[in-house]
Amino acid sequence: MQLNNFIGGSWQDSGGANYTAVTNPANGEELAQVRLSTSEDVDLAVKAAKEAQKKWALVPAPKRADYLYAIGNLMKERKEHLAQVLTREMGKVIEEGRGEVQEGIDMAFYMAGEGRRLFGETVPSELQDKFAMSVRAPIGVVGLITPWNFPVAIATWKSFPAIVAGNTFVWKPATETPMMAYEMAKIFEEVGLPTGVANIVFGSGSEVGTAMIEHPDVRVISFTGSTETGRHVAETGGRHLKKVSLEMGGKNAVIVMDDADIDLAVEGILWSAFGTAGQRCTACSRVIVHKDVKEELETKLLASMKHLTIGDGLDESVKIGPVINGKALEKIQSYVEIGKEEGAKLLAGGNVLTDGDFAKGHYFEPTLFTDVKWDSRLAQEEIFGPVVSLIEVSSLEEAIEVNNSVVYGLSSSIFSKDVNKVFRAQRDLDTGIVYVNAGTTGAEIHLPFGGTKGTGNGHRDSGVAALDVFTEWKSIYVDFSGKLQRAQIDTE
Ligand code: UN1
Repeated sequence: MQLNNFIGGSWQDSGGANYTAVTNPANGEELAQVRLSTSEDVDLAVKAAKEAQKKWALVPAPKRADYLYAIGNLMKERKEHLAQVLTREMGKVIEEGRGEVQEGIDMAFYMAGEGRRLFGETVPSELQDKFAMSVRAPIGVVGLITPWNFPVAIATWKSFPAIVAGNTFVWKPATETPMMAYEMAKIFEEVGLPTGVANIVFGSGSEVGTAMIEHPDVRVISFTGSTETGRHVAETGGRHLKKVSLEMGGKNAVIVMDDADIDLAVEGILWSAFGTAGQRCTACSRVIVHKDVKEELETKLLASMKHLTIGDGLDESVKIGPVINGKALEKIQSYVEIGKEEGAKLLAGGNVLTDGDFAKGHYFEPTLFTDVKWDSRLAQEEIFGPVVSLIEVSSLEEAIEVNNSVVYGLSSSIFSKDVNKVFRAQRDLDTGIVYVNAGTTGAEIHLPFGGTKGTGNGHRDSGVAALDVFTEWKSIYVDFSGKLQRAQIDTE
């Protein structure tokens, strides 16, 4: 099966000379071939998007939203199929695949509702017989660059607000996960989304991504991925004076206080650290534990980790699927070695699985380190795999300081029954998302998603906040006095 670009409503083969194979990370099975597109393909897509945008912007927003309702309904109808494709392509266990598709469906209906809101402001004017308001105006053609770990949800966080607000888009999905984009393109086509509103170009970041960022007709770039790439996107986009919205790395921590429900904390940690094999931006990769409950937490975590079955995510009984590819395995392994060299104590896991059927896929054991120093590389750098580090502290203040010591600021969590501690923590934890008595994952689509410091650049995906990325504020003054009234002067 070869996947072609979706440009101006038609399936177009790229002119690029190179192909890449999409393989199932669970067993190495080849799923599809994708041709790596070139900057000419990007040109074609941007041209189609630009052409379509003029008309699309004039379609009343509630009508634009009707397409989102149709898209959401079709996703709902196909939920199981989409989840199966997702698990096969990306590796996450099927239950999480269904959850991710649901996140996309939720986003469709939520953003469709925005078609009847898109609120601006009406404010009084300082002058008589003058009317003042602000409205959200579409920006034009937007470029979307999405990662492989949430190939459908994150794409919906960006594309749905973009189109309900009257923009058209060119989307470059990750090279590892083009099949979800292909499935979404089929849905866009089937609901009759006007041609050119949604365009998809498959290919590498260096060629297709760069061409999008440098294209003069692409006015916004919304990117989710690594901090390293995001920095490049911001630098290049900045030179072209583009609005660039970045969602990048994390080094998220669960804080377990001495008064916490330890069994609940164990459940939260397991889910957030090892779900999606640790490959979420929001994954828990540090546990900051009060010294009085450290031993109990360690013992209980170790006991529970024994029940984490590893394997092909399509098997309903499996709890942890493969990681995305061999390169990811190498990176995770290298951090285990770094941890050992830094003197952290390995309590469980730490190995690539190679026995029997595991050899065909990319599997890493759930791994637990303890006695990790807060400022070690193991505790500071993003690993993006099933590795969690326990760091001991003596107080809430110290826990918060350790949490805030990393360059990232996406998600954090505190387990405590003390309302005073909890409220202090939610105020002082320097992250875009804070959980209380839950792990670091599980964001819902109607609140802003994003982080502080090295995680982002001040923008947010999801929620109403997403509309800020894809609209310009336009302030409108209507003077119906019939005479010249000068602001700030003729006010007496
Ligand atoms: C991501 O890890 O990039 O909150 C997205 C969560 C999911 C989204 C994660 N709803 O973990």
